[in-house]
Amino acid sequence: MRSSALGIICHGGSGVIKDRQAAAQGLAQALEQGYRLLRQSARALDAVVAAVKVMEDNPIFNCGTGSNLTLDGKAEMDAAVMTQKGRFGGVCCITDVRNPILVARKVMTETDHLLMCGEGATDFARKMGFEKHDVTTERAQKRLERLRQEGNSPYFPGLEKMMKLGTVGAVAIDKHSQLAVATSSGGITGRLPGRVGDTAVIGAGTYAGPSGAVSCTGHGEPIMRMMLGKDAVDRMKTLPGSIAVTLALSEARRQKALCGMVGFDARGGICFGHTTPDMSYGYMVGDRLFLFTEDKKK
Ligand code: GLY
Repeated sequence: MRSSALGIICHGGSGVIKDRQAAAQGLAQALEQGYRLLRQSARALDAVVAAVKVMEDNPIFNCGTGSNLTLDGKAEMDAAVMTQKGRFGGVCCITDVRNPILVARKVMTETDHLLMCGEGATDFARKMGFEKHDVTTERAQKRLERLRQEGNSPYFPGLEKMMKLGTVGAVAIDKHSQLAVATSSGGITGRLPGRVGDTAVIGAGTYAGPSGAVSCTGHGEPIMRMMLGKDAVDRMKTLPGSIAVTLALSEARRQKALCGMVGFDARGGICFGHTTPDMSYGYMVGDRLFLFTEDKKK
C-alpha cells in the first residue's frame, strides 16, 4: 500500500493485547497527535517523537509511565530516535524521567554522542531540564510480584513472559518525503538490572536509512542478534517495504524470534508484520485512521 504524501504508523507492542479497546484508543491518540503535526508541516522527527510521547504518558503501554520493572523493582527504560539521514540519539537504562524519548532526542541534537546509559543518561536528562519523575505504576509492580510468585528463573523470565511485551514505536514520512523513527520501551518484567534491550540499539529495534525506516517490538535479544531493523531497511533498497518486512520477519520466524515491526519505505509504502500472536498497531494516511489491534491466536 502507498501513502500519497504524509503518513504515520505506530505500534503499541507485539505479544498479547490484554485490553484491545484501551490499546486502540491509545494508538489513535498517538497517531492523531503525530499526524496533526505532519499536516502543520512539521518534520517527521517531530511527529514520531510527539506520537511516542503520547504513548509514554499512557500507562497501558510498556514505556514511560507503566514501564515493566527489573528484578529489583526499578523502571529502567530504553528509547531512541533516528532520521533517514542517519542522525541517531538513544538512552538506555534511564530512570526517573517521564519521557525517555525526549531525552533520546536531546542526545541526538545536543551532544556528539549516539547513546547514553544508566546514571549518565539520567544526569544528562536533569542537565537538559527534565524533572525527576517516578514512572512506576501499581500494575507494573503487580506484574513483577506475580512473576516472583510463579517462581520463574530468578534471573530472567521464561519466554512465555515475552507475550506480555508492549514496546511502542512510530515511523513517519513528512511532506518533504523525509522519514524518521522513534521507539520507547520499559523492557521485560523481572529482567536483570542493567539489561539493555533492542530499542535503543541502532539497527536492532530502531533504524532508518535512505531506503526506509522501521521500529521493532518484541524479544530484544534475538532482535539485536539479527539486527532486525537494519535487515528490513537494507532489503528496502531493492524491494517494496511490505515485502522487505515480510522477508525479514520470515527469517525472524525461522529463528523463533518473537517480534514485530512497523515502518515506511522511502516511497511512502507502509509496512508492518509480526511473528507473535498479536501486535497492536495503526496508521494514518490521507487523513484516514486505520487501527489494528489484532487477535490472531496461532
Ligand atoms: N523490545 C524490548 C525489549 O526487549 O526490551
